[in-house]
Amino acid sequence: MQVVVMASGTGTNFKAICDATKSGELDIDIKALIVDKSDANAINIAKEYGIKSIVLNYKSYENRADYDQELEENLIKLNPDLIFLAGYMRILNREIIAKFPQRIINIHPSLLPKFPGLHAVEQAYEAKETQTGVTVHYVNEGVDSGEIINQESFAIEGLSVEQIYQRLKPIEHRLYIKTIKQLIKG
Ligand code: GRF
Repeated sequence: MQVVVMASGTGTNFKAICDATKSGELDIDIKALIVDKSDANAINIAKEYGIKSIVLNYKSYENRADYDQELEENLIKLNPDLIFLAGYMRILNREIIAKFPQRIINIHPSLLPKFPGLHAVEQAYEAKETQTGVTVHYVNEGVDSGEIINQESFAIEGLSVEQIYQRLKPIEHRLYIKTIKQLIKG
């Protein structure tokens, strides 16, 4: 099973996928990491694990169409069975989604459909939710609105935003790995 991971930032979910692959827990071949920012820490993680990084620096394209075109060409060339978004901060356009139907997966830090989009943890905190969670879902053209594959919730009553993040991260990593296992089996 050949996969591509896409990220924009720190890359802890990407690292969790790399670790699970290295240990043999996940039987996948990570063909490449694609990032939209040349300073994304995920690039360092890719280096550490000997995975090819493709940097499509969003800021160096004249317009979104040019960026999308190059991204699409790269994905077509790589031809992965599955694409995992791990903190990738751009909406994929409909052409790309149509090329990889039900093959693009995202992880989001809330119990969708609650709190889609940016700052989902802060939104849950502000709304005084007693619980929040993590959702892994298929990607469609909307913002975090595709079909849900797996969700896990946890209590946040009395926690600070920072404490919520501390609880969230290991749950994200575990849920993403569990979902990938499920998807490659099925
Ligand atoms: C995670 O919270 C994920 O749910 C969201 O972006 C964040 C990426 O975190 N889509 P990291 O870079 O993998 O640590």
